[in-house]
Amino acid sequence: MGLAGRRRVRPVGDIVMQDYIAGLPKAELHLHIEGTLTPDQRRDFAARNRITLPDDAFIAKTPTPAAEGQSPADMAAWSLAEFLRLYFLGLETLRTAEDFRDMMVAHLRNCAAENVVYSEIMFDPQAHTTRGVAFEAVMEGLLEGRRIGREFGADSNVILCVQWDRSPESAMATLDTAKPFSDEIVGLGLDSTAVGTDTSDFELVYNRAEDEGYRLTAHCDCDIPGAAQRIRDCVEILGVERIDHGINVLDDPDVLALVRDRRITCTVCPTWRIGDPGPRRITQLKAMRQAGIVVTMNSDDPGYFASRTMGNMVSEINRAGLFTEAEIAQFMVTAFEHSWAPAETRARHVRSVHDYVAAFERPSHG
Ligand code: HPA
Ligand code: ZN
Repeated sequence: MGLAGRRRVRPVGDIVMQDYIAGLPKAELHLHIEGTLTPDQRRDFAARNRITLPDDAFIAKTPTPAAEGQSPADMAAWSLAEFLRLYFLGLETLRTAEDFRDMMVAHLRNCAAENVVYSEIMFDPQAHTTRGVAFEAVMEGLLEGRRIGREFGADSNVILCVQWDRSPESAMATLDTAKPFSDEIVGLGLDSTAVGTDTSDFELVYNRAEDEGYRLTAHCDCDIPGAAQRIRDCVEILGVERIDHGINVLDDPDVLALVRDRRITCTVCPTWRIGDPGPRRITQLKAMRQAGIVVTMNSDDPGYFASRTMGNMVSEINRAGLFTEAEIAQFMVTAFEHSWAPAETRARHVRSVHDYVAAFERPSHG
């Protein structure tokens, strides 16, 4: 029987329930390493590199759109643009291979503490190389961080993201630069803002990346103008096997059927900002799951959101009560199964979730 079909695991109240979530082996497929920088880390990196940035580069909150009289799609685009302004400002504090290594190790230590045993971690090389930071320094730092993380039980792989809002020529040049490292990069993604861009502009980039052995994903941010059509285009034109976010499949039955039938993974981020009442997008997460979409939960940019790291976020989602603990375990099984780790690794992690749930269900815990 699938995990979600089993009885509800709610042994003796909230504490045990939260222990259950804390100990559950977890996987994350959608996280930007530059988005892990907390205000304190941004301040520390800026100090060590003697970089001066405007004060709002170090604030804890991400903006909540306040503009009146705008359509929901315009509000979503505005909110994304405001977030990205802070995100791209914050990453300017990174300069050296050591910075990238330390950022990666700090993140993976959080993963180890929260039993996030496997993650796929995106990075934004164009935002670094255009500031004069060498691609090689970025890779050297990230890969050294990954190696250190594996030593303490936080396994990861990296996904190179090019930006929707930069040219396809720049994306191609980034693939050229990445060539010597392609064995160490599991996939290609597209992030930053797609608003005002044409998906087909990136067709050749994606064709080439596929030929070079990259797995393919792309961001289709929540509720931005034309979001459902963007999802369709990423699947049909770019040939992605994963969509980052992707909740707008729910807007169009044909797009939903396409994503469901092709078994495209949607990496939804039920994150929240300061001022939000709690986890966002969990009703969409539930609806997508019920519609038969392959869907996972992810923390996206834990340094910038009130939802913080994966363990904290999943625990709060559990508290929100929309999913049983068994369903949450099933989300993790889905994430492991649809990760881009080798088959044996995926199978081992899936077994570990099943073993964990079975041990928790034994009467000694009840
Ligand atoms: N969307 C697009 N680009 C990003 C994001 C996101 O959620 N996080 C970091 N870069
Ligand atoms: Zn993202």
